[in-house]
Amino acid sequence: MELAYRPGGAVRACFFSPTGTTRTVVSAVADVLARALGALSEPFDFTLPAARSAPPPIGPGDVAVVGLPVYAGRLPNLMLPYLNTWAGRDALAVPVVLFGNRNFDDALMELREVLECRGFHTAAGAAFVGEHAFSTTLAAGCPDGEDLARARDFGRAVAQKLRSGPFESPVPVPGRNPAGPYYQPRDRVGRPIDIRKVKPKVSSACIRCGRCAAVCPMGAIDPADVAQCPGVCIKCGACVKGCPVQARYYDDPGYLYHKRELELGYPGRAQVQLFL
Ligand SMILES: Cc1cc2nc3c(=O)[nH]c(=O)nc-3n(C[C@H](O)[C@H](O)[C@H](O)COP(=O)(O)O)c2cc1C
Repeated sequence: MELAYRPGGAVRACFFSPTGTTRTVVSAVADVLARALGALSEPFDFTLPAARSAPPPIGPGDVAVVGLPVYAGRLPNLMLPYLNTWAGRDALAVPVVLFGNRNFDDALMELREVLECRGFHTAAGAAFVGEHAFSTTLAAGCPDGEDLARARDFGRAVAQKLRSGPFESPVPVPGRNPAGPYYQPRDRVGRPIDIRKVKPKVSSACIRCGRCAAVCPMGAIDPADVAQCPGVCIKCGACVKGCPVQARYYDDPGYLYHKRELELGYPGRAQVQLFL
């Protein structure tokens, strides 16, 4: 379908970002895009459960830069019911996924399709790299200055595309459609590693500040007793990386094996990929 940008709306930076890397990239893209279009950049952070009580306020003239991290080669599956409450109202959208150095597999295609199904028209897409939620060495420190320069260049290139006349939508992106199975980690003899029920532990260093409960995107940790995690843990790393005294950790052997395998298998810097 051929589409044209109609000036007058806002640029909405919409993101789910438990450890903050998706937020950093989406904000950089949206800020530059908004400036180049002469529009306002409005953030919509749907990381915490309370923020997901309503969809983002999208207007028909808006451009939504929508970012989620890649989990098992796909979108975080527990976010899908929420994303399916969104109404795109014919706004333009820029799907952005953030992956932790291994691969984004079908996640960008999946996000493009969710947005198109919800009534957005996708104009561009991107896959950026961020420090892996499981690790401090895998894509360590990313997005760094180089990644953010790419994010700003991408924002400028999207603005240029929107301003230079009609364009085809949906934007072509790699990935299977419909998306294939979730990426399956395996142990050294090829047996599947299932970490779905794994929960984070708390060491004696815990000072009961409650930060882990406050930053958990699933509201899974009991704020009255942070040693208890009665809810669903998605292994997003928010509690581990957000703990001011490094008291939270995972000790599940399958989780630790997979983390180590990723650290050894993907030591280099993965490529940012832009689709315009
Ligand atoms: C459960 C889970 C599964 C993940 N699967 C992948 C993956 O398949 N490929 C990859 O490159 N990174 C993967 N990652 C890493 C995340 O994409 C990465 O940590 C992301 O930058 C975190 O985003 P955030 O900082 O916005 O929370 C996974 C992370 C988690 C928590």
